[in-house]
Amino acid sequence: MPSQEAVKEALSEVLVPGIGRSLTRLNMVRAVEVANGRLRVTLASTALDAAAKDWVQAKAHSALEKLPDIEEVTVDFTDSSPQELNHIHHAIAVMSGKGGVGKSLVAGLLAIGLNRQGYEVGILDADITGPSIPKMFGITTRPGGSDTGILPVLSRSGIEVMSINLLLPHEDDAIIWRGPLIGKVIQQFWQDVVWGELDYLLVDLPPGTADAPLTVMQLLPLLGVIITFTPQDLAAMVVRKAMQMAQKMNIPILGVVENMSYLLLPDSGKRIEVFGRSKGEEMAMAARAPLLGQLPLDPELAKLCDEGEIERYHSDAFTALSQAFSQAMPRKADSEG
Ligand SMILES: Nc1ncnc2c1ncn2[C@@H]1O[C@H](COP(=O)(O)OP(=O)(O)OP(=O)(O)O)[C@@H](O)[C@H]1O
Ligand SMILES: [Mg+2]
Repeated sequence: MPSQEAVKEALSEVLVPGIGRSLTRLNMVRAVEVANGRLRVTLASTALDAAAKDWVQAKAHSALEKLPDIEEVTVDFTDSSPQELNHIHHAIAVMSGKGGVGKSLVAGLLAIGLNRQGYEVGILDADITGPSIPKMFGITTRPGGSDTGILPVLSRSGIEVMSINLLLPHEDDAIIWRGPLIGKVIQQFWQDVVWGELDYLLVDLPPGTADAPLTVMQLLPLLGVIITFTPQDLAAMVVRKAMQMAQKMNIPILGVVENMSYLLLPDSGKRIEVFGRSKGEEMAMAARAPLLGQLPLDPELAKLCDEGEIERYHSDAFTALSQAFSQAMPRKADSEG
C-alpha cells in the first residue's frame, strides 16, 4: 500500500492551471486516506474555476491510478480559504527612506538569489501606485483564480509574483487611490492570494514611511525589514527614520544593502565612487544590523531590468549579497511552528 508521502509525491506532478505550480507546492492536498486498496484524496478547490477543477481532478486521478496496490481512486474537493493553504516561513519587507534608490531591484535580486539557492520564493509588490516588479521580471500574464482566491503568476525562473500591475487592464494605467484602498489591496494580496508553501516572501514597499509601509508592518507577520540606500543619502537621517518606524512597529532590521555603491570601469576595472564615499558601514552601525552587500551601478543590470530579464543577471557582488542574506536568515527549523 502506498504511504502518504508516496501519494503526495505522485500529486506533486499535477500542475495547477493558470500558475503551473504543483498541487503540493500550493498546499492544495488537504487529506489522504489509504485503506484496503482504496485511495481517497481531498484537494482544495481554492482559486479553481469549474474547468480548472475538472482538469485537476482528472490529472490527479490518472497520477494516483499508477500507484501500486490501489484498486479504487476517489478525488474530491473541499473549500479552504487561501489563508488555510498559505504557509509562509519568512515574510521580509524591503524599504528605504526615499524613492528610486533600488528597493524593487534589491527585492527582486534577493528573491532571485534565494530561488537560485533552491528556496521557494514569492514577491508581493506592495507598491500599489508605482509597481515595478512585473516590468523587471518581464511578466504580463494576468493572474488566474476564481471567487475563492487569486493565483500568483510564476516568473520564468519559478518565483511567485503578485502585483496590482498584473490586474490592471493596461500596464501603464495610473492608480490614484487613497490610503485606505491601498491598504485593502495589500491586505488582499496577503490574504486572498494562494501563495502555498513558501520559504520566503519578499515584500517590495513604496518609498518612505507613509501609508503602505505602515499597512504592511501592521498586517503582515514580518520576520523583519531590509533597508536599502545609496551613498547619496543623508545616511543617519534615512536610517533613523526607517529605524524609528520599524522599532515603533516592533519589527527588527535584518540588514542593510547599499545600492549604486560604485562603478567599475570596463577596461581598467577601476572603481569609481559615483555618488560619493560608501556609507555601508555607517548605515549598518546606525541600524545595528549587518551590511549584507554593496551593489555596483551596473549598466548590464539596468539593461536587463529594462528588458524584463532581471533573472538573467549574474555578478560577484550579487552572489555575495545572496550569500550574506541567506546566512543572516534564521535556519528553517528555527521558525517552524
Ligand atoms: N545598481 C544598479 N545598477 C544599474 N541600474 C540600477 C541599479 N539600481 C537601480 N537601477 C535602476 O534604477 C531604476 C530604479 O530602481 P528601483 O525601481 O529598484 O528603485 P526603487 O527604490 O524601487 O524606486 P521607487 O521608489 O520608485 O519604488 C530601475 O530602473 C533600475 O533598473
Ligand atoms: Mg520600487
